Amino acid sequence: MQYGQHPAPRFTVAHLSDVHLLAHGVRQYGVVEPEDGLRLALDRVGRLDPVPQALVFTGDLADKAEPDAYARLRELVEPAAAAMGAEVVWVIGNHDERAPYAKGLFDSDDDGPQDRVHDLGGLRIVALDTSVAGYHHGALAPEQLDWLRDVLGTPAEHGTILAMHHAPIPLPTLEPAAIIELLDQESLAAVVRGSDVRQILGGHFHYTSHSTFAGVPVSIASASCYTTDPAPVDRLISGVDGHQAFNTVHVYDDRIVHTVVPIPEAPEVSGQSAAFREALDALSFEERREIISRKDSDFNTHAESHEPREPLTDL
Ligand SMILES: [Fe+2]
Ligand SMILES: [Fe+2]
Repeated sequence: MQYGQHPAPRFTVAHLSDVHLLAHGVRQYGVVEPEDGLRLALDRVGRLDPVPQALVFTGDLADKAEPDAYARLRELVEPAAAAMGAEVVWVIGNHDERAPYAKGLFDSDDDGPQDRVHDLGGLRIVALDTSVAGYHHGALAPEQLDWLRDVLGTPAEHGTILAMHHAPIPLPTLEPAAIIELLDQESLAAVVRGSDVRQILGGHFHYTSHSTFAGVPVSIASASCYTTDPAPVDRLISGVDGHQAFNTVHVYDDRIVHTVVPIPEAPEVSGQSAAFREALDALSFEERREIISRKDSDFNTHAESHEPREPLTDL
């Protein structure tokens, strides 16, 4: 049922980032339990309608690259993704390390660049490895750029999404983080420009941000563990236990829509039962507009009061 002028999206992707999972029971900075954030995020993703066809995790999956953390990540994510019928796209970050990442997530002994291609029914998702051994900044080797140029040489039916941890974006609200950004972004721009890349997804900075790169939209997802406060009081940089979020990525034939989904629950103050949808579907366009849009309709003047729903576990 289409209520407005746009058809349903062709693809729905959940874009999560920076899980920073630790071996079970260990807290980040003695406070944040990254597993709690991931569990809440997966709960929220599971409630999306339409259900996502892919869960894309843009890096920093394991805080200290511990094999146990990768094993736990799979234990939590894979059954949730399977229940949704969604493919999982892993992307490596600076906190990850190639050998345990490859072994833990792909049962592979190949500790070279972790670049992979996924085909989501004609929508290509390229996971690009920007990690640098022993450092937090990002880089792409010339061989990786050659590989990417080769992959993009054959356009995909519905275009390409490039998923990379160190996405190329200016950092006006977090200038110090530029020290650990992707090096030599122009070399990547030369590969992306004019290709079928429709979107770049990234993480790394632990707050939500948007830009463009070589004419392509860039979307950075926040984190599910701790986040960076873009407006701290008298702090050069401030990581906080709050504001966690992931993004939905709805891919239409002519555009892509990103929506920030906060991970912690909030108390409901107004709403309608999901069952109301069926009644709305049964109406004509004009009838729907009279009920929902007209300011003095019963719907708008006698909004149903109701008991607030029970909040789920808080972060
Ligand atoms: Fe991170
Ligand atoms: Fe990072």
